[in-house]
Amino acid sequence: MERIKQALEKAREERLKAGGTAGTSGGTAGPVAAVSQIMYTHTRTEEVPLKFLREMRVITAVESGGFTDAYGILRTQVLQRLREKQWNALAVTSPEIGEGKTLTAINLAISLAREVDYTVLLVDADLRNPGVHTYFGIHPERGLSDYLLDDVPLAELLIHPSGIGRFVILPGGKPLENSSEMLNSPKMARLVDELKTRYSSRIVLFDLPPLLSTADTLAFSPYVDAALLVIEEGRTPAQEIERATKLLLQNTNLIGTVLNKSHTMKPSDRQSPPWPERAFDRLRDNRLLGRVGAKLQAWSGRLSGKARS
Ligand SMILES: Nc1ncnc2c1ncn2[C@@H]1O[C@H](COP(=O)(O)OP(=O)(O)OP(=O)(O)O)[C@@H](O)[C@H]1O
Ligand SMILES: [Mg+2]
Repeated sequence: MERIKQALEKAREERLKAGGTAGTSGGTAGPVAAVSQIMYTHTRTEEVPLKFLREMRVITAVESGGFTDAYGILRTQVLQRLREKQWNALAVTSPEIGEGKTLTAINLAISLAREVDYTVLLVDADLRNPGVHTYFGIHPERGLSDYLLDDVPLAELLIHPSGIGRFVILPGGKPLENSSEMLNSPKMARLVDELKTRYSSRIVLFDLPPLLSTADTLAFSPYVDAALLVIEEGRTPAQEIERATKLLLQNTNLIGTVLNKSHTMKPSDRQSPPWPERAFDRLRDNRLLGRVGAKLQAWSGRLSGKARS
């Protein structure tokens, strides 16, 4: 931990010398014009067909109402909490594989970017199995791993999917075997600090690997302000939720949970916290901020017609 602190301190000093700010968190809204300028000066834009996004269930990019409402509720709660705490770096994880981390992170990121005051950077930090780019049908040759291993400048790696305003992706790059080591490195700590502090109106989301099957997420979680835990309805066992929660809380704050692929959503359910929140009430800890919660309905992603609500 000491070497990480030193790395962060050094990064802060360097930024001050370069005339930047020394703060560790953003969250205050900046002017919209300035935000747009910041976003696209150097960032590469990739064409992404709406039809493809819809097919991949990136629904916050293509429609409103129905299924996107749940993401809207999640966005509002996440934003409130980030503003309240002056935080802007949030990790998205889940206990096991395939529970919906990446899709939730993408839809939440786009939903947040639709708030005019913010830009959103989504970092694919699943270095063993990077997958954010696949949801946009793009094939970036390089990404975060190339920055970490070969010092490829970030400006060459960032991608703005066309038509999704104020939203930028840092792809994962080539898959890494030693991903936990890289995610826990002082270089990664400095990068997160830099991403968090460079623009005060930026929210940075990190798509992470499963918490219980690799060391990666625990190794990385101390660098972010908080984590959001995705649970798959009917699949993630209660003991795994409790185990994952306890582990996360040893390393970072827990902003709340998402109950994903829910088959039981009714409009009235949207107001009440999903059941994992109630389970978390038993785990008293001052790092647990379990008020954020949303149910995301399992979506068939049919191409024809509107999404069912
Ligand atoms: N709410 C949902 N409704 C329907 N399908 C969903 C939903 N959320 C995720 N999926 C589908 O579940 C599959 C796994 O989703 P995703 O890639 O987001 O999971 P993951 O947790 O990131 O997986 P991994 O652990 O492999 O990184 C994908 O096919 C995705 O489209
Ligand atoms: Mg994933």
